Order: sequence, then C-alpha cells, then structure tokens
Amino acid sequence: MSADLPSTRSLEKRPDTGPENQLAALERVWRRFGDGASLLKRGGRVTEVSATHYKVRGLSEIARLGDVVEQRGQAGTRRGEIVKISRDEVVVAPFERSADAGIGDAVFRRGPLTVSPHPTWRGRAIDALTRPIDGGPPLIRGDDGDGQAATPGALSRQRVGTSFMTGVRVIDIFTPLCFGQRLGIFAGSGVGKSTLLAMLAGADAFDTVVVALIGERGREVREFLEDTIGDSMAKTIAVVATSDESAMMRRRAPDTAMRVAEHFRDQGHRVLLVLDSITRFAHALREVATGTGEPPVARGYPASVFTELPKLLERAGPGAEGKGSITAIISVLVDGDDHNDPVADSVRGILDGHVVLDRSIAEQGRYPPVNPLSSISRLAGKAWSPEQRALVTMLKSMISRFEDTRDIRLLGAYQGGVDAELDNAVRQVPLIYEALTQSPRDRPSADPFSDLARHLRGKQNADAAD
Ligand SMILES: Nc1ncnc2c1ncn2[C@@H]1O[C@H](COP(=O)(O)OP(=O)(O)O)[C@@H](O)[C@H]1O
Ligand SMILES: [Mg+2]
Repeated sequence: MSADLPSTRSLEKRPDTGPENQLAALERVWRRFGDGASLLKRGGRVTEVSATHYKVRGLSEIARLGDVVEQRGQAGTRRGEIVKISRDEVVVAPFERSADAGIGDAVFRRGPLTVSPHPTWRGRAIDALTRPIDGGPPLIRGDDGDGQAATPGALSRQRVGTSFMTGVRVIDIFTPLCFGQRLGIFAGSGVGKSTLLAMLAGADAFDTVVVALIGERGREVREFLEDTIGDSMAKTIAVVATSDESAMMRRRAPDTAMRVAEHFRDQGHRVLLVLDSITRFAHALREVATGTGEPPVARGYPASVFTELPKLLERAGPGAEGKGSITAIISVLVDGDDHNDPVADSVRGILDGHVVLDRSIAEQGRYPPVNPLSSISRLAGKAWSPEQRALVTMLKSMISRFEDTRDIRLLGAYQGGVDAELDNAVRQVPLIYEALTQSPRDRPSADPFSDLARHLRGKQNADAAD
C-alpha cells in the first residue's frame, strides 16, 4: 500500500522549512497515520484528580454529557464518561474502580457510547460496556448503533397486551401480569427478591430475556445465572455490574440492558427485562452525582436520581405498532424494611404493580414470601376471568381474617364453632399457603388455579378418609 505512505520526500523538497511549516507537515503526517482529527483537536489535559473523578481542561467546547473519553496515563489507556461540563473544564468519572489519572495526562473524546446489540448475543453475559465476561468468543456487533431514540411516543404505543403465565403460582393467582407491564418486587435484604426474580426470568412466554444484575456480589451473580436461570439461558442476555465495580459501571449497566431489550423489541420479540436491583442503581446514580457536587435533597439522594429512574423505566412497556414489547420486572430493596424509602416511593409511582415480600413470611419458611394482601397488579383485571376474580377476592378475605386473628389464636383465646367464616379460614388458609409454596427447583405451574383446587380437594379427601 505504498500510496498510503506519507511522502516525506515532498517535505524535504520544500524551500521554506521554518518551524511553522514543520508543524504543519507533522500535522499532515499525524492525520494520515492515526485518527488525526481527534488526536490533534479533541484532546485535553487532566488538571485535577480525586478518588472518584478527574477534571480535564480543553474538552469543554466539544464535550457532551455521556460522551466516553480515553485517558492515557501511566497505567495505559483507560476509559471514563463525561458527567459534568463547565466553561473551562469537564468532569470525568472513570469506568475503572480508581481514577488512576495523573496531572497532565492526555484525554481524548470518543463520542457517545454505542451498544450495537446483535441476535447472537442471546446466551451471553456482558459487562456495562458490552465486553463479554463469560469467557466466550468476542461479540458480533449489530449496526443499529445507538438505540436511545427508540422509545415510542405515548400515542404510537400499542396498549398493554394480553396476559401471560409466569409459572409462579402466587404471582399468577394474586397479581397476574400482562405483556408490557412494569412490576416491582419490594423487600428488605435477604428476604427472597433475587430468587423470585430468577424464577420469573424462566417464564416460557418470552422470546428474549435480558437480565441486568446491578450491585450484586460476584458469587450471587454466578448462582443467579447458573442455578436459577439455567435452562432458559439460551434466550437470555445478562448485563452484569457487580458491587466491586465502579459506580460508573453500575450506573451504565441498566441503560445497556435497556438498549439490548429495545433492540430485540424492535425485532418484534416479546422481551422480559429483569433488573436486580433498581436501588443499587440509585446508589450508583447518587455516588456519581454527589461526586460532581450536586446537593442532596432526600436522604442523601440528589434530585437527578429521581429524574433518571422514571427515564429508564419509561422505556419499558409495549412497543410501537408492529413491534414487540418490553415487560420489566425490577427489584426494589427497602432498607431496614422501610417501605417509605425515597427510591421505593418514587419507583412505586412509575410501576403498574408491586409485589411485596415479607420477612415474617420468609421466617415461617413460606417461599416465595409474597404478601398477597399488600401486593397488587394494576392489570390483573385484564388477566382474570370473572370467576377467577371472585375466587381471588374470597381467598384474600379468608387470608385477611386468618392473619388478623393470628395473635388471638396464638394466645389460645380462639374457640371454634362460634364464627363459621373464621372456622373456615382457619381450616383452609394453611392449605392455601401450602399450595402457594414453590421453590426454584419445582416445576413451573401451567394452571395455578387448578393446582390450588386440586391441593385443597386432595387434603379434604385425605381428612375425610382419616
Ligand atoms: N423460593 C424459595 N425457596 C426456598 N428458599 C428461598 C426461596 N427464595 C429465597 N429463599 C431463601 O432466602 C435466601 C435469600 O434469598 P435472596 O433471593 O438472595 O434474597 P434477596 O435477593 O432479597 O436478598 C436464599 O438464600 C434462600 O435460602
Ligand atoms: Mg438479591
């Protein structure tokens, strides 16, 4: 390729070799060999470094929020994202755990992050920057570049679709779901959110499942992917940012996952997006925002956190006419089992339903520890038949009687034969609870109402035979 060689000979022949012209010649050579434009024009220098951020002078005029930059320092080339721009300098949050930048290091703008999902990504696990983390071959990139503009307008969206079975009995009976719905699973830590999410991620009804694991420990991620999702991994893409990665990676991962989900939705797939947990995402948003000097407004969270959460979740839902849908199931950690935590509060308003897990139910060994009385699905009306709706109302009122009288019964102050309705509840509710218990290893249920009826009938027959 001799045509590509720089013609230094022509430089030598120039009569005027003053410093100005030599510089111009050097610039021509740079342009031919490297990505000249960015090297010469889009560079800046590090002027200040802190534990979580560094500042760069010389990029302000061309930088956009969210642009990726490359910083060349002693440790090699590292990437970060522009999180604040002022007239003279930009603030960069590095993707690596520590800033590791030095004063004077060169920093180059690389433009917005692209995700470029491809159909072959199903079955793979990637990080927030779409690098494979499963030891598999490099990923093939699609050509659709940036999917951010793909959120359909409110009026061009299809209406929330038909209902589907998750295979988890307690959900399919009390809070049945529809395609395109956004559901939150609310609970304190260690109560059973991740396990329930993994069970739901195995639902047969979906063409593609995107699992975003944010801020979990590495060991939990392995368990989630290997044990619980197991068989349906072939149609699953996992986007992982573990607790030991930088706040930037944890902040990026949900967006990456959503863009992958949007890609498959636009191919017409029914996509399930499972996000564990939105609270850890909020923590990452908080960490990055406070690092840029944003003041806290609610329990240490800056205001931008409460605009980012709806922005992300609004992207789920039914697609435009002729496209698929994104059904989102997210877990919400309620710190100290305080259900009025600002993140839980703000997220609850955006969702079309919430499932509440109770520590006291888990302590009784009843898994999944769903409290059917405080859980609702706003689209349940579309899913139940009139008979099922009546049955669920009756079940709830029995459970409510049973739980309201729990203390009295424990004290021995309850006598049978006085209140027939309560007697019935005391007899039936433990059987109902038994029928709703399900572990990740159990077979998913195809018809939860029949399963429940069969269980109750079976027990009654057994009692009669005694
Ligand atoms: N369906 C279930 N069946 C049996 N045990 C469960 C079930 N769900 C949760 N557990 C138990 O609860 C523990 C914590 O669950 P996990 O899903 O990790 O909670 P969280 O994500 O809320 O912190 C698990 O290690 C497991 O022992
Ligand atoms: Mg968990």
